Amino acid sequence: MDRIAITGGARLNGTIPVSGAKNSAIKLMAASLLTDEPLRLTNMPRLADTRFLGKLLTRLGVQVTESDGPDGQQTLLHAPEIMSGFAPYDLVRQMRASFNVLGPLVARSGQAKVSLPGGCTIGARPVDLHLQALEALGAKIDLHEGYVYAQAPRGLKGAEITFPIVSVGATEHAMLAAVLADGVTVIHNAACEPELADLQDCLNAMGAKVEGAGTPTITITGVARLKGATHAVIPDRIEMGTYAVAAAMAGGEVRLTNARPGLIDALLDKLKEAGAGVEPTADGVIIRRNGQRLDSVDVETAPFPGFATDLQAQFMALMTTAKGESRIRETIFENRFMHAPELMRLGADISVSGGEARVRGVEQLEGAEVMATDLRASVSLVIAGLVARGETTVSRIYHLDRGFERLEEKLGACGAQVRRIKGDGEAEL
Ligand code: UD1
Repeated sequence: MDRIAITGGARLNGTIPVSGAKNSAIKLMAASLLTDEPLRLTNMPRLADTRFLGKLLTRLGVQVTESDGPDGQQTLLHAPEIMSGFAPYDLVRQMRASFNVLGPLVARSGQAKVSLPGGCTIGARPVDLHLQALEALGAKIDLHEGYVYAQAPRGLKGAEITFPIVSVGATEHAMLAAVLADGVTVIHNAACEPELADLQDCLNAMGAKVEGAGTPTITITGVARLKGATHAVIPDRIEMGTYAVAAAMAGGEVRLTNARPGLIDALLDKLKEAGAGVEPTADGVIIRRNGQRLDSVDVETAPFPGFATDLQAQFMALMTTAKGESRIRETIFENRFMHAPELMRLGADISVSGGEARVRGVEQLEGAEVMATDLRASVSLVIAGLVARGETTVSRIYHLDRGFERLEEKLGACGAQVRRIKGDGEAEL
């Protein structure tokens, strides 16, 4: 298996273009199941997760074609007809968001059999809210042997859906199913993450009638059919935030482009509070730190526009070398501190109790061999490695490849000493 090796100590200076958002792209790809006309997605990231989903969609009858067009990386998805409504365990297990094909399959063809995703290293992550939403829309749901059997032979019906807690995935799933339902659906306590507004824009370009995404109430007036469209995936706010933290950690000056600063205000405020220079630009942000040590600040994760749970591990890495003590509270997932013991292998001083971690900043981290435990945790180890003395080697980087496009190249272009070591032991720059 590949590993990433980082030689710490180099400052970062340069420009990093932000890719299209993984979390948005994979829901937009699922939207291709809703129409027999082609959906063209531009600003597409090329990631293990988009490849997994592409594989699954191909099995279901979607022709998936990746190319480099005039608008950059694009993917054309075309499902003239649904060939199969079956999403097997081995594909859904590899990427939980594959579960979101269930709603579009039922909406378009009246039936589906989709594996339950199973557990996850960051928490139990049930799908009960997804299923409640589909049931509210009139689907008959049965669970057998790890699979969800969903049926709506006469189509889905508009409904009032009130989520007891905010769920990004369940809100997206309900939206994907309701666009072809008969009548009006109102989703209350909807997630407000920017990926919801992106999905709304794409669905509306396909002829859907969705309003309110980005607010807690989304109204969907069902239409009989959707058509093809072209849609540009929004910039990846988590990738943007990750490189912002990397620049604050390593020091230097990094300009992030192809992005929108307003997507990560909660993080940028914390970086400023810690003492980093933050300068929003028209298409991104410039992050600076020149020599001085950062101050510790506290963070608590929250649904958007709060501090994103997907940036918590990276921020914890940043706090390992700040002055003083930082308290980091995780409120979204119950087991999302797996990176803490790995950061401690690098010399970090962290204690975890329940949903709170206390990070006491040390002057210097030391390179070591560490292991990635999940997607965002893996990149926090790379960030720590940027300042650790000597070499840090991160194993299990298939987690990293799920969500960060050309990470070594992007950091390397700013002067970081980061290289991929192929599974056979040979280094590849
Ligand atoms: C999405 C993102 C993930 C991010 C998370 C929170 C994708 C592919 N993933 O995950 O990167 O960390 O939002 O911003 O977009 N829950 C239930 N029942 C359900 C669904 C969720 O109890 O049916 C719980 C979860 O266990 C969790 C909380 O709700 O504690 C929020 O999860 P949710 O917003 O659904 O996260 P995902 O959509 O899975």
